[in-house]
Amino acid sequence: MTALVITALVHLSFSMRGDRARGWPVKTKVTLVSAAAMAAQLIDGKAVAKVLEAEVAAEIARLGIRPGLVAVRVGNDPASEIYVRNKAKKARELGLEGTELVFPETMTESALLAEVARLNADDAVDGILVQLPLPKQIDPKKVIDAIDPAKDVDGFHPANVGLLHLGRPALVPCTPSGVMRLIDSTGVAIEGKRAVVIGRSDIVGKPVAALLLARNATVTICHSRTRDLAAVAREAEILVAAIGRARFVTAEMIRPCAVVIDVGINRIDGKLCGDVDFQAAKETAGWITPVPGGVGPMTIAVLMSNTVRAAARRRT
Ligand code: GUN
Repeated sequence: MTALVITALVHLSFSMRGDRARGWPVKTKVTLVSAAAMAAQLIDGKAVAKVLEAEVAAEIARLGIRPGLVAVRVGNDPASEIYVRNKAKKARELGLEGTELVFPETMTESALLAEVARLNADDAVDGILVQLPLPKQIDPKKVIDAIDPAKDVDGFHPANVGLLHLGRPALVPCTPSGVMRLIDSTGVAIEGKRAVVIGRSDIVGKPVAALLLARNATVTICHSRTRDLAAVAREAEILVAAIGRARFVTAEMIRPCAVVIDVGINRIDGKLCGDVDFQAAKETAGWITPVPGGVGPMTIAVLMSNTVRAAARRRT
């Protein structure tokens, strides 16, 4: 209760400053702020993913094509096994041709490159995805560079990365794209907002920052060398946590009423948890994604959407 009152007071002082600046009547905003001092609203990734999946199925029907997606796995990483199987399965469920290609852990780099070349040349294949990580004898950069950018539904090829950072149409990485849809599902406008991304990976941190920038947010990327990361994070009206460290983001790092997107998938004592300390953070945030059930379901849905886009571009 004390925590709630303190939170409410903090909200009040923030909003009053904002209200004066915008010339809003303070009284009206106080009511909104009291409501926001309660637990955050949950962002339901499963529900948002379902909407996107319905859009994908409708687009396939409209185009009258059966887009082909091939998901390649090398070796027996248990997480990759589940991801790749689910990707191919979801593809078939939505009316795509989903194929899972599995190769042994001992596969050579040149054999995988030959396989990618074969898929590039196969006209029935619209999307190629090589699940990462790869066994140590294979350089993932060489494999990504070998994929035809027009079939690169992961959006990892340098040509697509370049287009994304130029703000030009591209195949965009799936998880970052899903993050943007989740933020949009809250109805909170992105333009002009202070957005902080914690983590600078090529798969999530950098592309999510580029997408937020393209939507006119003021974007800061935090990483392992950032000084006073907590203070930077606390500035964020939109906070994206993608560091891969369980419960790294504590309540003190969250600005009251912020939109908090948790990209983390970690395990503590066999239990799935995100990069955000959810139980504590939900008392301060305005909106928050759970783990599981937040970002996770979006990634596969966006992959399907990217594949349909790639197919439409190639075939029409
Ligand atoms: N490994 C972890 N995330 C991803 C992803 O989005 N795509 C691929 N290909 N591999 C991954």
